[in-house]
Amino acid sequence: MATVIDGKAISQTIRSQIANEVRLLSQKYGKVPGLAVVAVGITKDSPRYVEMKRKACTELGIKCLVVELPEQVSEAEVINQVHDLNANPHVHGILIQLPLPKHINEENVLTEISLEKDVDGFHSLNIGKLAMKGREPLRLPCTPKAFLELLERSGVGIKGKRAVVVGRSNIVGLPASLVLLKADATVTIVHSHTSQLENIIREADIVIAAAGQPMMIKGSWIKPGAAVIDFGNNAVDDPTKKSGYRLVGDVDFEEASKIAGWITPVPGGVGPMTITMLLKYTVEGAKRYIE
Ligand code: GUN
Repeated sequence: MATVIDGKAISQTIRSQIANEVRLLSQKYGKVPGLAVVAVGITKDSPRYVEMKRKACTELGIKCLVVELPEQVSEAEVINQVHDLNANPHVHGILIQLPLPKHINEENVLTEISLEKDVDGFHSLNIGKLAMKGREPLRLPCTPKAFLELLERSGVGIKGKRAVVVGRSNIVGLPASLVLLKADATVTIVHSHTSQLENIIREADIVIAAAGQPMMIKGSWIKPGAAVIDFGNNAVDDPTKKSGYRLVGDVDFEEASKIAGWITPVPGGVGPMTITMLLKYTVEGAKRYIE
């Protein structure tokens, strides 16, 4: 049976350290770290994601400023908001909830965030440096940073390993593959146009699942002993639940946990860690202004 990587418990440990830092910052310097989350319109999962971030900030004493803009807002107006947040001394991290509505060019907005406040690491300069050998971004995006921490704390090495990333989104799959490459893994990215992807996944020592397809990766596709990181966060109907749904990953956890060496559960795996990394970056951002 696989070791289940308890992202929730590891997160709690890190979050209590962050809470101490927040307390110190406030006592010694009267400074409260602030995160701004810009949410444009309402996409499928965005209210749930925004709420999780707001709650996590509040629990740690970080100020969370949610800027909600209507679906029809112009690109220029979103950029204006970003400029205001850049200039706001109470805001140390800015996150634009993605995806943005189709009429807004994502890159135009993300590159207006000041580099120091780019807690998502999605500014073109940060992501560009991540893609280049020998260059270091100011920050890694929170999603790969989260699984790096989990693998490291679980004693799973990356160097020389064969890693397969399932999905090539800008938020998870692509940055995950760049980070693994920088960590000296041999990386393959599979996506919706890849044929016989199960044969490729079967070769992986490390599987990063980020396809957004509930339980698409079967236990029999996993190499025995592999480390499986599941970014899936899919709501599926479940009439036995009060909410009417339950969350499942992109991996069939029950099957895969019998074969893998390590596996992250959904919920309680890489999700809470991603938010924890965001909180960590925000506090680091606040410290930059006093040290
Ligand atoms: N939408 C879903 N996950 C994320 C994330 O980690 N960052 C941003 N900016 N948008 C998201």
